[in-house]
Amino acid sequence: MIAHSLLGDVTELPGLDDLHAPEGAIKEAQHLAARAFGADETFFIVNGSTCAIQSAILAVSGPGCKIAVSRDVHKAVIGGLILAGAYPVYIDVEVDKEFQIPLGPTPDSLKHVLDKHPDVRAVVFTNPNYYGISPRVDLLVALIHDYDKIAIIDEAHGAHLPFHDDLPLSGLEVGADLVISGAHKTLPAMTQTSLLHRTGGKVPDEDISRALKVIETASPSYILMASLDIARKIAATKGHELLGRVIHAARKAQSRLNRSAGVRCLTEEDVVGKGFRHDPTKLVVSLDSIHMTGFEVARTLREKCRTEVEFADIVNIIAVLTMVDNEQEILAFADAIREIAITEDKRHERIIAEGCATSGKTCTKSDKRCEGRGIEPVLPDFSSVLEETPKQVMTPREAMFATWEQVELERAVGRVSADTVVAYPPGIILVCPGQEITGRMTDFMIHAASCGVQFHGVKDDCVLVVR
Ligand SMILES: Cc1ncc(COP(=O)(O)O)c(C=O)c1O
Repeated sequence: MIAHSLLGDVTELPGLDDLHAPEGAIKEAQHLAARAFGADETFFIVNGSTCAIQSAILAVSGPGCKIAVSRDVHKAVIGGLILAGAYPVYIDVEVDKEFQIPLGPTPDSLKHVLDKHPDVRAVVFTNPNYYGISPRVDLLVALIHDYDKIAIIDEAHGAHLPFHDDLPLSGLEVGADLVISGAHKTLPAMTQTSLLHRTGGKVPDEDISRALKVIETASPSYILMASLDIARKIAATKGHELLGRVIHAARKAQSRLNRSAGVRCLTEEDVVGKGFRHDPTKLVVSLDSIHMTGFEVARTLREKCRTEVEFADIVNIIAVLTMVDNEQEILAFADAIREIAITEDKRHERIIAEGCATSGKTCTKSDKRCEGRGIEPVLPDFSSVLEETPKQVMTPREAMFATWEQVELERAVGRVSADTVVAYPPGIILVCPGQEITGRMTDFMIHAASCGVQFHGVKDDCVLVVR
């Protein structure tokens, strides 16, 4: 099997074309992808959406250029700013307090930034985010174009959006200039595959190719490129039908979960009033009301049901459904969560009846967290920390190459971060290089780390900072 797959691991032999100067099969495959996704031009990417996002930023900006980025962007965007030497201005995001998740930018928050910074070159935001929340892409792109700026949309979680009308809009459907489709996350494509699409005339293809030549491997995998071509074919020919089935099953699972005691599953109704949409193929489930963290639910699913979710945070688990999942599996997953909730509730009832073995205290059901379970009484709220944007005092690139020293997190307040600090997953930035670290950030990180949240950019309770 392995030997068979390795037969496809070829290179730029005659007749096999060249990704960095496509003239034959790769050019044709990219044209087919552009047609399927509704772009003017599509570039195959074999180094992940990270490479596509960073190439997009490099293609449109350079040293000192201002780029407006949504406060909740992925760390790949910050990498792009470091490479380009660009300066970020941040667009505030709305948050959801119940699920404690970011929702995204609104047209008002974007307009505020564009009015305040007329010299912004481009705007970058995510659609949908890791939790399936989509902002009003149509209004945001229209606004960006009214101000004559370039719209770059990170659709690392939205490669499937153009293939079904019941899903939130893709940037490709509203003329966004550059859209990154994370093929490996939501299409049947291999890890590291992605697509970079260009629409309209604002960004020349040569600028994109030039940036890709800087960032992308000079030895692109033909297996990955073939995987992209196959995924494009499946999406173009069967995507609508397969997605229709999975959306139907996802909605059934959502309502089954929401009818189960102690379980909350995010649906579009939770966010539509705030001006956002939800992609039902992302099941966001919380058992917070029966005092289980997302980490505990994920662990129980792994140990008891041999099921892995995409990721867990303090409050939620997130299961990503794709066009190759079927209704039976999706509903079985919902039932497994319902079982976990029933078992946990019974356990809690027992603790209430018998008294808490660890603390010796009597717990009541109205206690926010049962003390005997050894969990912090109040868990940190991830969404609230995103309501703050630390002050950017130098470009991410300047901070990256500045002299730095490592200090304990408690002592980092008021210092300038030399690193990108990210809660991982979901990979959303908390502190960007060049930003001044605040007490709210350090309090959150210390508290969250004690509850099992992993951070990139924070090492052994220390954070890298510059003087
Ligand atoms: C919103 C977002 N953008 C970009 C990326 C980077 O994608 P990749 O891992 O394909 O490089 C991720 C990865 O999780 C992501 O969540």
